[in-house]
Amino acid sequence: MPLPKAELHLHIEGTLEPELAFELAVRNGVELPYADTEALREAYRFEDLQSFLNLYYELMAVLRTERDFEDLANAYLARAAAQGVRHAEIFFDPQAHLARGVDMGTVVDGLWRALGVSEDAHGVSTRLILCFLRDESAESALRTLDAAKPYLDRITGIGLDSAEVGHPPAKFREVYEAAAALGLRRVAHAGEEGPPQYITEALDVLGVERVDHGLRCMEDPALVERLVRERIPLTLCPLSNVRLRTVDVLAEHPLPAMLDAGLVCTVNSDDPAYFGGYAGDNFDAVRTSLGLGEERLRELARNSFVASFLEDDEERRARYLAEVDAYTF
Ligand code: HPA
Ligand code: ZN
Repeated sequence: MPLPKAELHLHIEGTLEPELAFELAVRNGVELPYADTEALREAYRFEDLQSFLNLYYELMAVLRTERDFEDLANAYLARAAAQGVRHAEIFFDPQAHLARGVDMGTVVDGLWRALGVSEDAHGVSTRLILCFLRDESAESALRTLDAAKPYLDRITGIGLDSAEVGHPPAKFREVYEAAAALGLRRVAHAGEEGPPQYITEALDVLGVERVDHGLRCMEDPALVERLVRERIPLTLCPLSNVRLRTVDVLAEHPLPAMLDAGLVCTVNSDDPAYFGGYAGDNFDAVRTSLGLGEERLRELARNSFVASFLEDDEERRARYLAEVDAYTF
């Protein structure tokens, strides 16, 4: 039995496996510029974040109907459950779909057809987090939040993703203020490729409660001290960091140093179809390559539930934490 864990950094569009991409392409009459799944997998050699994003947005063309989003989410939830994920807080990128003529209702209703029954179907509780694309305008983000208003009963929070450098958090001050006023939780990608200053800005200007990635905080000791003091969780994605060349090899990932520094680290998969593994695969990889012992792995699993947006269901959080504490490796 795998270690129970929560996944807090997962882009649902990044769970689109080549086999499902081709299945949906056929179903929807969409032509993909790859001969077969093998040819597509060949394209999974990334130089950096942008080279990945180009393929990530290209493949989304196959997602058109509620059923497509439902199938995508069910495929992820089944894989996640098999790797010990008990709770998943799932990102989605509505602007990437709106731009293709797929409306907010199709995306949210489709995802919810899977998420709404996930506890019974997969044994995984879920939350949904709407991400804004930071390389789009602040006005576009505000329009997107507006389009999401009829669906807020199913949306727990907002996030910020896509190309980081040149798009600092402060660009999105207004939409984060508006989201906070609507009672939405706030997270943002910061310090993946962008500088430590973006992490500080995400905290001070956007009021984020967790930082997605946050890896580059390690370049700024005063920032590390603050993140430790304020118990700000970081949602790290080790296999993603290697594939996008944020770190050269997994054996040099700063996760052990980050844990030693007292940071509240979690381990997640980001875009598992593209980066070579789901949540459990990321745990296995850090155990093997970084030599993390059982107590460190248990700490990472505990952190994932502590950092979860489960304030509306503390009983459930306590149950999950008890499962982690009782786990025998
Ligand atoms: N970083 C930024 N944006 C993203 C990512 C990522 O790893 N995955 C999907 N959108
Ligand atoms: Zn991400």
